[in-house]
Amino acid sequence: MGVFIGGGAIASSLLVLFLCACTADAQLRPNFYGGRCPNLEGIVRGAMRTAVSSDPRLPASIIRLFFHDCFVNGCDASVLLADTPTFTGEQNAFPNRNSLRGLDVIETIKAAVEAACNATVSCADILALATRDGVVLSGGPTWRVPLGRRDATTASQSAANSNLPGASSSLSVLLNSFANQGLNLRDLVALSGAHTFGLARCVTFRNRIYNDANIDPAFAAARRATCPQAGGAGDPAPLDVTTPNAFDNAYYANLLSRRGLLHSDQELFNNGSADSIVRSYANNGAIFFRDFAASMVKMGNIAPLTGSNGEIRRVCSRVN
Ligand code: HEM
Repeated sequence: MGVFIGGGAIASSLLVLFLCACTADAQLRPNFYGGRCPNLEGIVRGAMRTAVSSDPRLPASIIRLFFHDCFVNGCDASVLLADTPTFTGEQNAFPNRNSLRGLDVIETIKAAVEAACNATVSCADILALATRDGVVLSGGPTWRVPLGRRDATTASQSAANSNLPGASSSLSVLLNSFANQGLNLRDLVALSGAHTFGLARCVTFRNRIYNDANIDPAFAAARRATCPQAGGAGDPAPLDVTTPNAFDNAYYANLLSRRGLLHSDQELFNNGSADSIVRSYANNGAIFFRDFAASMVKMGNIAPLTGSNGEIRRVCSRVN
């Protein structure tokens, strides 16, 4: 074809180009299940509403599950697979151990979806929908969730250890970790805005409140009161000191006043390339909401299993 390109060859290469563009763009789509599970979105939303009414922290825990799923070999529900004597999954990787929450709620929602549409909807898609609904229930933006992901039959503890950035990360480490997933600086700053709700354990911010220089002194002192430097586990603290359970842009205002809880949070506003984006989100919640929704769709598109790859799990915590 490189030597002689006749009309037929041009037509067929155009066709190939067209097909490639099509499959790349159209892998996931909001109406993927259509008539095969018409009440899917209502079932997930109703179950989330019930669960959140007794646990306001749940939306934070669920979105974190989604993040920790997507960054480890794609959004394939691998994070939901429990360890067994013969299977090592991701739940005991360092970023996940003793800190994942909401697994039981995803399992409850999955059971409700199975009762309505047997063996049809993946756990990966249920997690994506529950994540969006949790953000909305907490006051955040909404977006249409592209669907059609299938569930992994494997998981990788080592990929979870290497792909998920830690709280002590510098801006360049964060940027690199996001770039590895096809996400840019703006995605990093927007998605970090999920730290507008939820809690972090003392072990994740101890070093910051005792050793960092770019921290508001009164804020550091308040945090030290319940997170001892030595001799105890301490208490978890809100990632957003201003509005701990609400999904809003207060996280960014906190960064402007050097009240980011994690070292990695404050790295986004520390005389670097992310400063101007942080400022714009702090000043304009609508821009943050718009960008956040777009970046969530982008993160949700990371390496999904589609077509005949993977499976539709019956139960999210184990393969069929
Ligand atoms: C930018 C790099 C990130 C780092 C270094 C990071 C780190 C952390 C750490 C250390 C915790 C506390 C975990 C614990 O103490 O158990 C945490 C919690 C949390 N993270 Fe991140 N995170 C990052 C990005 C994200 C992203 C992209 C999202 C979602 C889109 C997210 C959502 C959350 C939420 C909501 C919580 C609170 C969870 C709960 O209360 O159960 N994080 N994160």
